[in-house]
Amino acid sequence: MSKITLIANFKSNKNTALLEQWFEQIGSDIEQLELVVAPSYPYLEKARLMQKGWRLAAQNVSPFPMGSYTGEVNAMQLRDLGVEYCVVGHSERRQYFGETSAQVAQKITQLLSAQITPILCLDEPYLEEQFYSLSDSNLSKTHLIIAYEPISAIGSGQPASVGRVQTVAEKIKNLYGDNHSVIYGGSVDERNIGELLLVCDGALIASASQEARQMNSIIAVAQKSMLNVS
Ligand code: PGA
Repeated sequence: MSKITLIANFKSNKNTALLEQWFEQIGSDIEQLELVVAPSYPYLEKARLMQKGWRLAAQNVSPFPMGSYTGEVNAMQLRDLGVEYCVVGHSERRQYFGETSAQVAQKITQLLSAQITPILCLDEPYLEEQFYSLSDSNLSKTHLIIAYEPISAIGSGQPASVGRVQTVAEKIKNLYGDNHSVIYGGSVDERNIGELLLVCDGALIASASQEARQMNSIIAVAQKSMLNVS
């Protein structure tokens, strides 16, 4: 049985003191789970030093390689900082920063060439458009983590139903290939994680991951559901 992936996305939150406090209170990585934390760029190094077995993700990456692109952080630099995963195509980036599926595809190419696993976020309207913008080599021989993230569920306290997540997860695997993991994001917490994990491979968690205590409860439920099915 493959591992469940739980990703804590801090978005544009936390400072040094809050990050330290989170790592002091959070549980260590456990065997059955792949635990990933995505702090803002300036805190990646701090998180790497404190990691307790958590894997490191970035929240964004340049669509270009190393070079004259002022203000951008490229995939090779992220790799150099110990980053193993990177969120791309989050609806907040599509909405507030005008990120297009074509740019997301460029970012994925950069990440894969730096051996960083993309965490590709998709709401249903983008499923096909994003798929057709990816090259075959990005899809067939690689492993992406694809997060189904309905915009209406993000930060709203109103997660998609388990049935909906199951339907869309199947649709994603049919379209993108079942070599990829499909996880769910949008108002995930300790009350709904157990049932969601019955129909997908993990979760992308923002609001409920900010407090270490709540994240620890989510991890405990996920661990229990892993033990029940293995
Ligand atoms: P949420 O956000 O957990 O706060 O709903 C999820 C996300 O934006 O990835």
